[in-house]
Amino acid sequence: MKILVTGGTGYIGSHTVVELQQKGYDVVIIDDLSNSTKDVIYSIEKITGILPEFHQFDLCDEKLTKEFFDQNKDITGVIHFAAYKAVGESVEQPLKYYNNNIVSLLNILKWMNEVQIKNFVFSSSCTVYGQPDILPVDESSPVKTPLSPYGHTKQICEDIIQNTVTIFGSRSILLRYFNPIGAHESALIGELPNGTPNNLVPFITQTAIGKREHLRVFGNDYNTPDGTCIRDYIHVVDIAKAHITALERMQSNKTKSDCEVFNLGTGNGFTVLEVIRAFEKVSGEKLKYKIVDRRPGDIEKVWANTDLANKVLGWKAEKNLDEMMLSSWNWEKYLKVKNK
Ligand code: WQD
Repeated sequence: MKILVTGGTGYIGSHTVVELQQKGYDVVIIDDLSNSTKDVIYSIEKITGILPEFHQFDLCDEKLTKEFFDQNKDITGVIHFAAYKAVGESVEQPLKYYNNNIVSLLNILKWMNEVQIKNFVFSSSCTVYGQPDILPVDESSPVKTPLSPYGHTKQICEDIIQNTVTIFGSRSILLRYFNPIGAHESALIGELPNGTPNNLVPFITQTAIGKREHLRVFGNDYNTPDGTCIRDYIHVVDIAKAHITALERMQSNKTKSDCEVFNLGTGNGFTVLEVIRAFEKVSGEKLKYKIVDRRPGDIEKVWANTDLANKVLGWKAEKNLDEMMLSSWNWEKYLKVKNK
């Protein structure tokens, strides 16, 4: 079966392509390489022995998107990762985010339905919950006013999918990721932030490897055990595996509705300082960090209620924080050797 993975040279996309290939799926990638490099497909080949089919174009180009689907009528499912995802950048350049993330989705939905592709997995985010009133947060938790244009595009895309899937006679599953971190055990693929990392874990590993002077911990005056924010960190390979489970749920007609939503988290929350301690433990490195002011827009604490994903989707995160941090560190060390 041939599966289209948009954004397949990106962080979560590349890990999902590996898992798909290792389960015997034929994978085709569309990526505009705006936030990744073509080298990733060769790293995937090194892991799986299979070079994924790759098309480089912008999914906002309706003509190219139409042509692709016209020429690939044998695709049986689409996993859609391709989107801009830097929260801070979305605040500075909102229209770039609204245009890219929404128009690309509209083009895919339109032209995949023209060729009767019925199974669609969408990459969403716990950002849609904002600061939940009740923790752990479950899928029925109200979607809140978005904290960023990035988060707003995820909400809008979810609404578009939920309101069109039945008309198209197709099925969709929306996966709301918590905080994906870590890297493949091979250390051949991982998170490759463009420039200065926004996210915590790549900043930790880049500090430890000597690329950054020190980590800034954004605030320790929150209402949490050690004053730093709490997040539900989840290994990127666990996230990747959930996409295959979701795809197969639709392919085997097990879905209970045309559009299902699942949280992808571990159900455990860790503070920033606990993440730093875990890194120091598994790496043997002492991390240089300073407590600074809070980062605007940060929510205080969030972690997932994973009951629906565990009991209905039939997926459960397997890796713990130490494994996540060690895999990130191994990836950072591989990058240092590779980029010598
Ligand atoms: C985690 C914690 C920071 C950097 C974002 C997006 C979310 C998803 C994951 C796409 C926070 C603290 C961070 C640093 C720090 N992305 N931190 N120093 O903001 O929870 O989520 O990435 O789907 O949509 O919003 O992740 O890694 O940026 O921050 O102290 O240099 O680490 O304050 O508490 P976040 P993050």
